[in-house]
Amino acid sequence: MRAQKKQLSDVIPLPASVRPAPAATFTIISGTTVSAAAEAAAVAGHLASALGLEVAAGGDIRLVVDGSLEPEGYRLEITSSAVTLAGGTPQGLFWGVQTLLQLGGPELPGGVIEDAPRYPYRGAMLDLARHFFSVQEVRAHIDLLVQFKINHLHLHLTDDQGWRLEIPGWPRLTEVSGGAGTGVDGTGPGFLTLAEYADLNAYAAERFVTIVPEIDMPGHVNAAQLAYPELTADGQPVSQRTDAEVGYSSLVAGKEETYAFVEDVIKTVCDVTPGPYLHIGGDECLSTPSEDYRTFLARVLPLPGKYGKRAIGWHEIAAADLPETAVVHYWRPEADEPNVTRAAAAGRQIIMSPADRTYLDMKYDAETHLGLDWAGLLGVRQSYDWDPADRLPGVGEEALLGVEAPLWSETLRTLADVQYLTLPRLPAVAEVGWSPRGSRDWDSFRTRLAAFGPRWDAAGIAYHRSTEIDWP
Ligand code: ACM
Repeated sequence: MRAQKKQLSDVIPLPASVRPAPAATFTIISGTTVSAAAEAAAVAGHLASALGLEVAAGGDIRLVVDGSLEPEGYRLEITSSAVTLAGGTPQGLFWGVQTLLQLGGPELPGGVIEDAPRYPYRGAMLDLARHFFSVQEVRAHIDLLVQFKINHLHLHLTDDQGWRLEIPGWPRLTEVSGGAGTGVDGTGPGFLTLAEYADLNAYAAERFVTIVPEIDMPGHVNAAQLAYPELTADGQPVSQRTDAEVGYSSLVAGKEETYAFVEDVIKTVCDVTPGPYLHIGGDECLSTPSEDYRTFLARVLPLPGKYGKRAIGWHEIAAADLPETAVVHYWRPEADEPNVTRAAAAGRQIIMSPADRTYLDMKYDAETHLGLDWAGLLGVRQSYDWDPADRLPGVGEEALLGVEAPLWSETLRTLADVQYLTLPRLPAVAEVGWSPRGSRDWDSFRTRLAAFGPRWDAAGIAYHRSTEIDWP
């Protein structure tokens, strides 16, 4: 069956402005070429290779950087004789390329799209600690995320079960806690060497994605304590844990060994991370007395700043005094978190990841074979029909850095598992983070989403065929 010609608005996330010119169609043929100004050459290469075209001077598809546009914004004009794509920066141009690729081919619908994101931070998280995913798998995941203009990948690198990033001064972290049997199922050893971490950062940067590393503390540290018993209260060894319990481990606020370890790890990770953020976790410290929690954070929250980064922490950190640049990452589904409201009032920026809307590891429905359900079942509409600026009292649009969709890996074993829980809810959260609030509409979204099913089928990408969507 011949594919139906796309409409100019058949894009996720929905662009800010779409003006179709239905009489015009640009048809890509084998001789069509892509041309680009020097600063757009790398992005032109992405487009040409995705479409199987050559880059050549005077091409019919022309890419330019236009500094009068927003940095992540772009303008795409399709006429019957040419395609002109302008980006505020190469990053904006790259998002315009994603739009162009979604419009398909060989026939591109005529008209003009002018677009820019609602929030600067549009994130996804992948948990490498409960189950390790290789560099190749993370690269493939990045390729999927950028199609929906996700620009941050948060990597949860350490937890009770595993430690997944080499720290040269503390080799047992990965020798012991990146070794055999360190996933939730007791399989899936693995960790990133610093060279592999650098490779992933470079791969992400070429696709305009910022890696946000997370070293979770003072809780979720059994893997660190297994490797270095001096980090426990009594210096005694702990047992390896591959179950999915939380809240039982803690660094010790009253021990100097704690801070020698923490500062060395934070300095190392800051030194090898090109992006501006270091996530220090801070969640679910159920075995850390609250006074100790605040003492610990008072010493640790300034450390990312000392080494040139902004600290991000899960929203429990809002119980402590926060450096001015600290970012609070809201996650628990409670409708009221007074500490987060207070932090926003004091000028701190907030990332929204309410678990009942954005946690990709929640089951879609009772039959879903992967995932958890502690925050409820999370269908596609549930992940789409909400607004970050309405979620918490006193946390409005101006307080928001953006949104993120976390994916925890207790039940995941393969890249197909990752894709199955990611699609099609990640596109929903991506639209929440990108598109103008007033333009969002569930019926429009579910219609546009349906067209991705055949593409994912053709590309061998796993996804959940939700009954909420009329897949073709
Ligand atoms: C979390 O889900 N523990 C942040």
